Amino acid sequence: ENIIKKFPEGFLWGGATAANQFEGGYKEGGKGLSTSDVMTGGTHTTPRRITPVLEEGTYYPSHEAIDFYHRYKEDIKLFADMGFKVFRMSIAWTRIFPNGDDAQPSEEGLKFYDDVFTELKKYNIEPLVTISHYEAPYNLTQKYNGWSDRRVVDFYVKYCETIFNRYKDKVKYWLTFNEINCLTMPFGTFMAGAIMPEGNGELSANIKDNPQLRYQALHHQFIASAKAVKLGHQINKDFKIGCMIAYMTSYALTCNPEDVFLAQQKDNLSNFLCSDVQVRGAYPGFAKRYFKENNINIAMEEGDEQILREGCVDFYTFSYYMSVCVSADPNQEKIGGNLSMGLKNPYLKASAWEWQIDPKGLRWTLNNIYNRYQIPLMVVENGLGAADTVEADGSINDDYRIEYLREHIKEMKEAVVDGVDLMGYTPWGCIDLVSAGTGEMKKRYGLIYVDKDNDGKGTLDRSPKKSFYWYKKVIDTNGENL
Ligand code: BG6
Repeated sequence: ENIIKKFPEGFLWGGATAANQFEGGYKEGGKGLSTSDVMTGGTHTTPRRITPVLEEGTYYPSHEAIDFYHRYKEDIKLFADMGFKVFRMSIAWTRIFPNGDDAQPSEEGLKFYDDVFTELKKYNIEPLVTISHYEAPYNLTQKYNGWSDRRVVDFYVKYCETIFNRYKDKVKYWLTFNEINCLTMPFGTFMAGAIMPEGNGELSANIKDNPQLRYQALHHQFIASAKAVKLGHQINKDFKIGCMIAYMTSYALTCNPEDVFLAQQKDNLSNFLCSDVQVRGAYPGFAKRYFKENNINIAMEEGDEQILREGCVDFYTFSYYMSVCVSADPNQEKIGGNLSMGLKNPYLKASAWEWQIDPKGLRWTLNNIYNRYQIPLMVVENGLGAADTVEADGSINDDYRIEYLREHIKEMKEAVVDGVDLMGYTPWGCIDLVSAGTGEMKKRYGLIYVDKDNDGKGTLDRSPKKSFYWYKKVIDTNGENL
């Protein structure tokens, strides 16, 4: 009872976004077409499609998104009003190298992020920059089939070198790849790997899969990430460069040892495979076994092992939204819409998009990760995707979102007392933005409402929700006033 529960001084409170989901301006400032720009809108039940050629009359949510490109000053001001210490954003690779393999970077693209960082600096908000968040120049898909081709490593490293040098005095915190472990799952093929999937272009759990290509692409991303870490530290020794994992917390559905083992195996193969490589600098034994048993042959070049060893990250970040159950019995009820992620947990409630809400699971997850690595952690995505109602007086009373965030923050605080070295917290979509999974606007995470609907209609006006004022108080009291 005498234990003092507090967040550490200097805890990085903020919010998270990604260029392809909120910037818009997809053809402006010399920007090239990215993989996300050829993805149509969808819904919880209708998968998004990849269209190799842009279709007349089809809605592509990334093209305008929420137009941060023109409204960044207004948006950053709102983040500052909430008291943000950190702002997670990504750089659109296609603003810097429109085709990915260009000889020279685009000055106009570089200038845009200079302006954004200057604006953040005005309010003392530290940027946390994801270098590649679910998008690559579409030209790299067309010419090289994305990350399946080793040459893409060099294009990425050149892109990193360009932005590291340009922003070395403006940005300290970097993440090499968003949710890099998505490539361990079939639906990550295009979004994370920029590889054109075979089949009808629908992004669903049933996507036609090619594990060989996927894991080869993942190897290339590991090499690219490790090279970026090493290079970044040479350019500025104070850089902190992290990995970013989509943490899929999976519990055994029963105490049947078969279920318990399966849960551990899933934890290893889906969650820890990537971070073992990025944090420890080598493939773990269970990965090698998995590759052998599944006839996956990773083509490695001489020197790759050394590259991985020399490119270990400084900190570990992850997204956490929910947990699922796993069972050795194939007849259990699946949940999770068209990207079905696991089994129903009878003890948990789920969101309207069938994501099971599990605050305690965040404490479990933080401890689980920290037990393994003992390096600083950061929760860089968390939140509730929900439809909001705008009242007649314009207010948005999102008590459900406040409750979700509050319960997760409480568990983070417990984890800090457990001894976890936690640097910060950036809830996802601090301003409403396009859903990555479904392409919808209706699935809102924001503390700031954006007037735009699933068909792309709306004024794009911003308005603070009830959660905005609540979160401001949370930050103001360093997590005391929940
Ligand atoms: C993470 C991604 O998987 O989850 C984000 O890094 C994404 O890009 C977020 O938006 C929430 O998922 P969704 O499908 O609800 O947008």
